[in-house]
Amino acid sequence: MKVHVIAGARPNFMKVAPIITVLERREIPHIFVHTGQHYDYLMSEVFLNDLGLRRPDVSLEVGSGSHAKQTAAVMQKYDEFLETDGHPAITLVVGDVNSTLACALVSSKRNFPVVHVEAGLRSYDRTMPEEINRLIVDELSDLLLTPSPDADENLLKEARHTGKIVRVGNVMIDSLVHILSPVSTKDRSFKPVTSSYAVVTAHRPSNVDSPAGLRKLLTVLSEASRRFPIIFPIHPRAKANLQRFGLYSEFQSIEGLKVIDPLGYVEFISLIKEASVILTDSGGIQEEASYLKIPCLTLRDTTERPITISSGSNRLVGWNVEMIKLHLDEIANGTFEIREVPPLWEGKASERIVDAIVERYF
Ligand code: UD1
Repeated sequence: MKVHVIAGARPNFMKVAPIITVLERREIPHIFVHTGQHYDYLMSEVFLNDLGLRRPDVSLEVGSGSHAKQTAAVMQKYDEFLETDGHPAITLVVGDVNSTLACALVSSKRNFPVVHVEAGLRSYDRTMPEEINRLIVDELSDLLLTPSPDADENLLKEARHTGKIVRVGNVMIDSLVHILSPVSTKDRSFKPVTSSYAVVTAHRPSNVDSPAGLRKLLTVLSEASRRFPIIFPIHPRAKANLQRFGLYSEFQSIEGLKVIDPLGYVEFISLIKEASVILTDSGGIQEEASYLKIPCLTLRDTTERPITISSGSNRLVGWNVEMIKLHLDEIANGTFEIREVPPLWEGKASERIVDAIVERYF
């Protein structure tokens, strides 16, 4: 039996890297499968380099498309690979992207066990494609490896078998701890020109796929830029949509806003760890900000990571400009409260993940 470690999109690479490192060290047979959901150098390969991850053993090269087309393409290609490989697999999927769903479905139909890392997270908002992916992947998984107690509770509310649930902590923090350690600090850190600045990221379909969503983003950026200079590493889809809807020049004319290409992992972490505040609609950045104790204002109405609010440094602000201004004032005058880093977010989740797999399958 071999563990197939699946990665496809940008947020997957920092989750699989520490797991692959432990599998290699413990000499557990495994294959690193890259679906090709993300393919640009800055969305994929730079992460492999920054994380010291070896080249994928298998590249499915599916590329972009509608959700249905992309999911179907990964399913077809992964299924063909399983067929030709001929070995039974344990399919390890992380997070909630379309590649996660596609590989879990294929593996499950072949009656191979599915292991889901980051199981149990719920935003309870089914307009998010990732929420649908999370629900189905958890339904199909034989081993549900969770990052936090709220995830265990969600799974228990859905009447999942307790024997399937193991709380392992947050594996993305393993990568963060690793690159923050002096041994791996590269000389490629991003050097902002000012000492106090905000970082903004936005790529959720609800925020960047319509003129109305982009207008809200423009309003928030204009307000925030009055308090802090802003650096915005832009997602390819957000940029394409701003251009498509004729809003790019308006966006570029916001004073104090610097738009840059997406950053690699080392550069992005070095940028956010010195930031005064992060405004984002990403899931993972809420967690990284909490670990780094940097104030984070999440531009969404829900989060599947509520532990970053009850612990951590996150606040859900939606698009409420008054609330955003209030928090920016708190940050500027030093009264913004930052709580503790959640338990098991300390850099050893990958060891616990591999322990759980070995205990069950080897
Ligand atoms: C995907 C994930 C999302 C994750 C995000 C991180 C799903 C449902 N969504 O969203 O959860 O937070 O990745 O980025 O899986 N594109 C490029 N270059 C690339 C990849 C994509 O230009 O390397 C452009 C293409 O126009 C593509 C679009 O971005 O059509 C969207 O890519 P896609 O993988 O479908 O979704 P993301 O928005 O990146």
